[in-house]
Amino acid sequence: MKARTVANGVQLLGAVDWDRRLFDALIPLPDGTSYNAYLVQGSQATALLDTVNPPQAETLLGQLASLTRLDYIVAHHAEQDHSGTLPLLLAKYPEARVLCSAKARGMLIDLLEVPADRLQAVADGEKVSLGNKTLEFLHTPWQHWPETIMSYLPEDRVLFSCDLFGSHLATSDVFADEERVYEPAKRYFAEIMMPFRNIVEHNMEKVAGRDVAIIAPSHGPLYRRPRFIQDAYREWVAGGTKNLVALPYVSMHDSTRVMVDYLVSALVERGVGVAQFDLTATDPGKLAISLVDATTIVLGTPTVLTGPHPAAAAAAFLINALRAKARFLAVIGSYGWGGKTVEVLTAMLGNLKVETLPAVLAKGLPKAAEYAALDQLADAIASRHAAMAGNGTASA
Ligand code: FEO
Repeated sequence: MKARTVANGVQLLGAVDWDRRLFDALIPLPDGTSYNAYLVQGSQATALLDTVNPPQAETLLGQLASLTRLDYIVAHHAEQDHSGTLPLLLAKYPEARVLCSAKARGMLIDLLEVPADRLQAVADGEKVSLGNKTLEFLHTPWQHWPETIMSYLPEDRVLFSCDLFGSHLATSDVFADEERVYEPAKRYFAEIMMPFRNIVEHNMEKVAGRDVAIIAPSHGPLYRRPRFIQDAYREWVAGGTKNLVALPYVSMHDSTRVMVDYLVSALVERGVGVAQFDLTATDPGKLAISLVDATTIVLGTPTVLTGPHPAAAAAAFLINALRAKARFLAVIGSYGWGGKTVEVLTAMLGNLKVETLPAVLAKGLPKAAEYAALDQLADAIASRHAAMAGNGTASA
């Protein structure tokens, strides 16, 4: 794809990666992604904001084929999907200097072997003039690594936000179709930004004073109605959870699945919504999205040897790493002869600020006592959700 115009003297470069299906060997990409770079041409100097993932280097080099001089390359983020092509560009433009945070400077040397004498750290709030255009740098750490910054272009009211407000969405549109981008953007928030949501809130306040007409992230389409994505982020960051149970489970011989089915039915009868995920088949991104909204997490697992099924342990690790917003937690499942499944799983979820509800474990198939315990668990969840809706910390 050729360069596309964002504003006068501002072009969208980079690559749309329609076919990529896994990021960081970890994150499913059902909608592909893009690596956005931006060319800002002032009357006296030209800056390239970010580069692309190295496999897409030829696309970016082709877009820059007619550009004979480049004064600056802004590296908002040292991760390879944005900075990985820096060495090639520095070879093509020997006059160019890389502008980045002081922390990114060390990371770019370590990760990409960028020569130290090509790197120039910029301070928070520092401005660099391109003639009739200005780049103001805002230090916004942990969006998504500790070195991240953003750039603001006041003359055109564009905020280049890098990973923040991004979406893994391959599209030929420059600007977002809001209905279409909502879920990819929420998935991106859940997977990348949710663990840092307190810092996200702080960084959003920091940029709130800027007059922004366009938000230009480093993944997915741009926003020409910034409030759309800013309001969505405010809800995801600081909004209450919903009357929803996220229920990831795995079952080997159906005992746990029978318990899950019973609990789901009991919850629905009590007016509680459920998002149920079979961990052997589910897209972890869907589970992550549910963790933005769920007031309660119930993990369903059989006992394997003496602990949880590895799929349940992996889910617990993910839930803990993403710092899910849930307030209540329970474990249900079956066992054959004993074990420490509940202790192992709850110990893996130390990042969560949850009340742990009584576990329900069945030896083999559930019987009357376990069905009664599942009813009690459903009652406990429903009453807590109702109380939270009553005090405004969850939506009914
Ligand atoms: Fe899109 Fe954290 O890199």
